[in-house]
This record gives sequence, C-alpha cells and structure tokens, in this order.
Amino acid sequence: MTLAIMSALLDEQRGLLEQLVSPQRVKRAGRTFWCGQWAGQDVVLVLSKVGKVAAATTTTVLIEAFDVKSVLFTGVAGGVGAGVKVGDVVVAEAFIQHDLNSAPLFSRYEIPLYGRATLDCDPLLSALLLEAAQLGLVGVGDHIHRSLLLEAPKVHRGLIASGDQFVCDPSAAALLRTDLQAAGHEPLAVEMEGAAVAQVCHDYGVPFAAMRTISDRADAQAHLDFSAFVSQVASPYALAVVSRFITLRPGK
Ligand code: ADE
Repeated sequence: MTLAIMSALLDEQRGLLEQLVSPQRVKRAGRTFWCGQWAGQDVVLVLSKVGKVAAATTTTVLIEAFDVKSVLFTGVAGGVGAGVKVGDVVVAEAFIQHDLNSAPLFSRYEIPLYGRATLDCDPLLSALLLEAAQLGLVGVGDHIHRSLLLEAPKVHRGLIASGDQFVCDPSAAALLRTDLQAAGHEPLAVEMEGAAVAQVCHDYGVPFAAMRTISDRADAQAHLDFSAFVSQVASPYALAVVSRFITLRPGK
C-alpha cells in the first residue's frame, strides 16, 4: 500500500527525505522519485513541480508507474479566509480551480464534464491528517513562531482554491474570494497545484489528502522572505505533521 508524499518545495522535501530508509532514486518524466520505507511503510517522495499541469503529470506518473495507493501533499499557500494567518495550517476538505471558467458552456468553476466545481479529499485520510496536524504541531511550533513573532499556529479545515497564478495583490485576492463566495464557495487559501492532484486522484479512485502552511496573505508582501519562511516554518511543520501522520496511518 505505497503512500506518495508530494511536496511543492525542495526545502520541505529535504527533511522528509532524511527519514527514508534505503532510499532509491528513480527518474521519470523529468522528475526524481525517491522510493523507500518510513516507519515500516513503503513511500515515494516527489516534488510536484509548480502549477496545475505539472502537478497533474507528477500525480499520473506516481499512480501509473509507482502504483501508489494514496497521495499526501504538503506545501505552502496564501491565506484568503478570514482568520487564516501566516503560520497557520490548512488541511484541505476539498479543492476548486479559481481560474477555471468555461461559461457560458458550463457554470463558472465547474470542471467540464465532471458536473461539479469542487473535488473532495478522502475523508478518512484527511481526518488522519487533521489529527496529525493538531498533535504534531504542538511542540514544534513554539520556538519557531516565537522567533518569528507569529502567533501559535491554528489548524483550519476547509476549501483550498488552486490556479496558475501566484496571488500577490490584495485586490486580486479579494476579487478571487468574492467571486468564489458569489458561487457558494468559501476558500481558506490559494495555491497552484492541489486541485490538479485532486482531479487525477479522483479519476483513478486514489485517496488524497493535503495540508498547506500559510506563508503569506496573498498580498503585496507575499513574495517577501518566502524561502526563509519555507525553511524556518513550513519545512519543520511538514516534517512534524507527516511523521505523526505515518505513525497514525493504519494501512501498510
Ligand atoms: N503559494 C504560497 N503563497 C501563494 C500565493 N500567494 N498564491 C499562490 N500560491 C501560493
């Protein structure tokens, strides 16, 4: 029952890679896949690459060539929901593509021929991930958020919106949010890959769960100290949560 762990960023993946027993490197489709064991479970680590198409390709290769039976995604995101602050974590309940619009052929955001706009994450895997985030972040957050003057991390659960766009303008973020709300969707965060991974997993019937650490508020400061945030906050958070997730996960 191989578990795939996809990361958006190299820094984040590095800590996870150190946990692998007998890692084997396999190259496919211009991507590097790391196969090994973690706490006695077969896992494959890979970088998603950036954007929806790249992430969809990575997911397809994971399923077709590595026969993975579940997919876990860790990365960072811009917070757009009320009360979703830098340093918080969002565990995805569902994904939507905020840049998908085939109107008037289909309603706004609807994935053509799927009859829906949102794709749910796997409820069991996501419940485990939520528990792993709540338990795993307890000790880890303390010294990190104090040194960066962040508040203690809150773990949120809800909708994440993906699109091929780094959102770094408050009016763009506000418009994106109000347009989604007008269609009945309440996004907590924006990023660039999750909805694509969710769609491929949906097509293959492979369970999928995702967490994102909030690195910015999708405003003009969004690009500042991005790499520092990833190495000092998102990477230790990902390691803490995934380590806990692996020990909670019953399937081998
Ligand atoms: N990933 C992290 N922050 C982001 C943002 N503001 N927009 C899109 N993807 C992101």
